[in-house]
Amino acid sequence: MGTPFLITIATMALLSSLAIASDPSPLQDFCVAINDPKNAVFVNGKICKDPKVVNANDFFFQGLNVPRNTANRQGSNVTAVNVNNLAGLNTLGVSLARLDFAPYGLNPPHTHPRATEVLFVLEGTLNVGFVTSNPPNNMKNQLFTKTLNPGDVFVFPEGLIHFQFNVAKTNAVAFAGFGSQNPGVITIANAVFGSDPLISADVLAKAFQVDKKVIDLLEAQFLK
Ligand SMILES: *[C@@H]1O[C@H](CO)[C@@H](O)[C@H](O)[C@H]1NC(C)=O
Repeated sequence: MGTPFLITIATMALLSSLAIASDPSPLQDFCVAINDPKNAVFVNGKICKDPKVVNANDFFFQGLNVPRNTANRQGSNVTAVNVNNLAGLNTLGVSLARLDFAPYGLNPPHTHPRATEVLFVLEGTLNVGFVTSNPPNNMKNQLFTKTLNPGDVFVFPEGLIHFQFNVAKTNAVAFAGFGSQNPGVITIANAVFGSDPLISADVLAKAFQVDKKVIDLLEAQFLK
């Protein structure tokens, strides 16, 4: 390696470090500014523990080997391990989840507003997919889909709507990694038809181009 090459590398490194100077990404849905620290809850993430009292258990979580109960309407159960139950993840930009599926169980269409997801199938057969954001010129939102078997890995890009569906008559188990300590989840049907308070049926009838009765029926599925 000649000196000009090293200078080029050093210059590129310097430029790239300059190019990323910007505000940090949000680590939760919002963080409203407050003057009185008495009522302050977090600082774009969580407050840090004094390193002098940190111990190994702050970086530890157990039990992700245990199958979860999937006896619910969707036939699936997601166990998230993120900064909310593994405090050592704070500021580190990663987290994970275990996904259990009953036969024909579904992890319904949802997005993670703050993270890309990489999914690994341990057991079973999952049909998965994600849809691209609105393209220009009224082109269609494109679905990328695949049927996954044990050992297969699939990536769901940050923020895009995706799903995982167990298409077999056996249980399925998968693990997912996320590029955020707190990826967040927006389950589309729940957010649109099950919000509190409800979005006006006029808005949804017009958005979905259906009669208000159809909206009432959909909203009724989410009433507690
Ligand atoms: C997921 O499984 C756990 C443990 O098996 C259970 O306590 C929890 O209620 C389940 N969640 C759903 C949504 O079924």
